[in-house]
Amino acid sequence: MLEKMSDFFENRLLSYDEHMMKNIESADEFYPFTAKQLPMMAGCRILDLGCGTGLELEEYYLRNPSAKITGIDLSQGMLSALKKKFPDKEINLILGSYFDIPFGVNVFDGAVSVESLHHFTKEEKISLYAKLHRALKKSGYFILTDYFSLSDEEEQLHRRSLLALKAEQGICDDAFYHYDTPLTVKHEMEALFEAGFSSVAVLSQWGATYTLKANR
Ligand SMILES: C[S@@+](CC[C@H](N)C(=O)[O-])C[C@H]1O[C@@H](n2cnc3c(N)ncnc32)[C@H](O)[C@@H]1O
Repeated sequence: MLEKMSDFFENRLLSYDEHMMKNIESADEFYPFTAKQLPMMAGCRILDLGCGTGLELEEYYLRNPSAKITGIDLSQGMLSALKKKFPDKEINLILGSYFDIPFGVNVFDGAVSVESLHHFTKEEKISLYAKLHRALKKSGYFILTDYFSLSDEEEQLHRRSLLALKAEQGICDDAFYHYDTPLTVKHEMEALFEAGFSSVAVLSQWGATYTLKANR
């Protein structure tokens, strides 16, 4: 049965960190790698899309303890777990969808998203990435670590499977349901370019998981 996105993560909260670190291939490598790519200026401002319990932030704070983080997530449980991990940090945590929350203009030195954006279509991402592009400072950039479809056929199969499941379960609303529909890296890069990013590069890869860097 499909579950609404926030219910899915609320229901798995207690075992979330352990599941990610034990069962997601190369998590022990891609979290530190992702953190290392982020800006290292003291006090810099970073936006985290789908911050969850803050696995990427654990690694980032080790390297840049004075960074000022804004984290957005749909799940109150995930945000509360994150807050508990970093009691001494001033983190701006926002409960809601990154599609709806305004990010501001020219405010962030960097942005990051890990394992959150593989649920959305290219069209949905273009408008999100355009909003992100506006929110970054001139020298700002976005680090995306996520898993991707390895072919157009795989991408289409995931999307068709989601639509079939929604039809089977009589779901007609536009709410977000948890079902992985990763784009190919090529389509993800196209979405970033169409949103206005000036250059996009693959920084690393572990199986189907990639880290991309998009410069404003
Ligand atoms: C697999 S978890 C990744 C969390 C964290 N970045 C990590 O790597 O551990 C995906 C997170 O994205 C959040 N999420 C999914 N869609 C979202 C949306 N539209 N707006 C905000 N958060 C979203 C979920 O609530 C969940 O906490």
